[in-house]
Amino acid sequence: MFFLIFLVANLATKVSSSNTCPNCGEMEVPYPLSTSESCGDSNYRIYCNNNLLQFLSSKGIFYKIQSIDPTSYQLIISPPPMINQNTCYTSDINVGGLELDENLPFNISSHNTVMLFNCSADILKSPLNCSSTSLCRRFEAHGEGGRGCRGTLCCHFLKDASMNSHKIRVRSGGCSAYTCVVNMNDQVDVHQWRYGIELQWMPPK
Ligand SMILES: *[C@@H]1O[C@H](CO)[C@@H](O)[C@H](O)[C@H]1NC(C)=O
Ligand SMILES: *[C@@H]1O[C@H](CO)[C@@H](O)[C@H](O)[C@H]1NC(C)=O
Ligand SMILES: *[C@@H]1O[C@H](CO)[C@@H](O)[C@H](O)[C@H]1NC(C)=O
Repeated sequence: MFFLIFLVANLATKVSSSNTCPNCGEMEVPYPLSTSESCGDSNYRIYCNNNLLQFLSSKGIFYKIQSIDPTSYQLIISPPPMINQNTCYTSDINVGGLELDENLPFNISSHNTVMLFNCSADILKSPLNCSSTSLCRRFEAHGEGGRGCRGTLCCHFLKDASMNSHKIRVRSGGCSAYTCVVNMNDQVDVHQWRYGIELQWMPPK
């Protein structure tokens, strides 16, 4: 009897530590990421909606997960699309852009080059690169979805440790659109840029 209890308890810990979620469509969902209450670690909640893996912002917006690298604790989400091709608004403008819940173990990594578009002149007081040679000009000219932002005041910056690592802010009257490139290589063509926002998670203790 005693032996049996020991066996069951032992089995239970084994199951919970290798409690990886099933694939979502074609994509693997590595531990600790969790698509439901019954798998993964619930602090690392993501969503499998219609076989599409998604990340939920603290503002209630879903962003598509493009890829996951569990060995470096990183995942890449898609930047929000422009609302339409002739204006310069990203689809999450109504909630002020991307915002991560600060109580969750995810943050925006320092491999992201963010480009902001249709900014008000106040932005020029910031240390961002808003010059006529800023990388944002290349997106406006040739990037997919960039056309509606052509000719607006735009800037780019590396989202490094000096910045808020839980937000990319846009608003009407500030900057009304953004996009983001992971591990920017400015030597290659805009069509080869890796459009995405890299998030990093703190490994479970
Ligand atoms: C702005 O970015 C461009 C492209 O990377 C660079 O050539 C230029 O020197 C930067 N300007 C400033 C003021 O940092
Ligand atoms: C830029 O933003 C302003 C509000 O800040 C808006 O009135 C204008 O329509 C936007 N421009 C484009 C091209 O969407
Ligand atoms: C983001 O989270 C990672 C992993 O916990 C941590 O190493 C890094 O310092 C954090 N970055 C910022 C800017 O807070």
